[in-house]
Amino acid sequence: MSKIIVKKCKSIEGEINIHGSKNASLPLLASSILSDEPSVFHSVPVLSDTENMLSLLTSLGFKCERVEDTVTITPSAKISLKASEDFTCKLRASFLIAGPMLSKFGKIETGYPGGCVIGSRPVDLHLKGFECLGARSENKHGKITVCGSLKGCRIYLDFPSVGATENLIMASVLTEGETVIENAATEPEIKDLTECLNEMGAEISGGGTENIRINGVGKLKGADHIIIPDRIEAGTYMAAVAATKGELKLNNVICNHLKPITAKLREMGAVIDEYGNSLKIICDKNLKPTDIITLPYPGFPTDLQAPFSVLLSQAKGNCLITESVFENRFRHIPELKKMGANIKIDGRCAVIEGGRLSGARVCSPD
Ligand code: UD1
Repeated sequence: MSKIIVKKCKSIEGEINIHGSKNASLPLLASSILSDEPSVFHSVPVLSDTENMLSLLTSLGFKCERVEDTVTITPSAKISLKASEDFTCKLRASFLIAGPMLSKFGKIETGYPGGCVIGSRPVDLHLKGFECLGARSENKHGKITVCGSLKGCRIYLDFPSVGATENLIMASVLTEGETVIENAATEPEIKDLTECLNEMGAEISGGGTENIRINGVGKLKGADHIIIPDRIEAGTYMAAVAATKGELKLNNVICNHLKPITAKLREMGAVIDEYGNSLKIICDKNLKPTDIITLPYPGFPTDLQAPFSVLLSQAKGNCLITESVFENRFRHIPELKKMGANIKIDGRCAVIEGGRLSGARVCSPD
């Protein structure tokens, strides 16, 4: 879809089921590389990112089949150790094949990862970790090559990068000895990955905490795993409900994963009731202003900064957003200004002074 036409509605009301998490699916699909057996993943959302990851795995020699939201990945006798840029440039998460390929086959040559234009997004933390494990890496002529035999070690991440944590976990599961990742990312998607790997036979403790301990094992079984619900999708709907003074029941959510989002929405005046794996949000008052700072989990997620910028523009008073995770993630603001929002950007901060929004032709850069 290159164009979406949105018509004003009264308010958003009803009941919906949240899909499986995109950000959990991508490393999990890559983790299938680690086993000689077929892996089955349920609740894989149909999105360009997941389809691009499956095309990348297919290009390496894996057989990928999708039936609705269930994906089966079967290794073949001939796996290529070269990932073409034609596939890797389609998504940033393409680099998540590096850890498992290195662990299983001792080498990967990959084209540069692509992804949204939200900053320089280097992979230096991934490469530093691989080198700590004993690999050599080379970055030239548009390709990144990582190879070598690995040995368990202690890795301290300068920043709790989600992708680096996932790549280093997957690089360590088949690596002899014990690996400890300190200052690891604690996002729920990491815990989903470590739980799936443990079901496959890995020995990982501390997934979802800042210290992850991995004892290398000889081999892994295939996966059979249900992917966690997408907290970013849920948060996007919740912001839309609050912005339109609506009422919505969301099914298939993990309320615990939504804490930074529900806390902000309650502060703004929304009423949220949680029941097991569902929640109901009602917002019938004028929104109170608030400030947001994006942070690694369990802080407010950077992936919801754009939808919440729209929401904050509807509050009665000034709001401040500080983007601390990515250096270039305000590209939606000039577009929002075309719709009438009154917003000033100063470095990594955006001061939102409200504004009555009206229809305009805008583009979606992120
Ligand atoms: C993941 C999510 C993405 C989310 C982000 C932060 C997936 C597939 N994507 O992306 O939706 O916005 O976490 O929550 O899960 N960095 C470095 N060097 C590195 C790696 C990262 O400097 O080697 C920097 C990045 O430029 C960025 C910050 O660290 O400023 C966070 O990146 P990271 O946590 O790695 O995000 P991703 O895993 O790419």
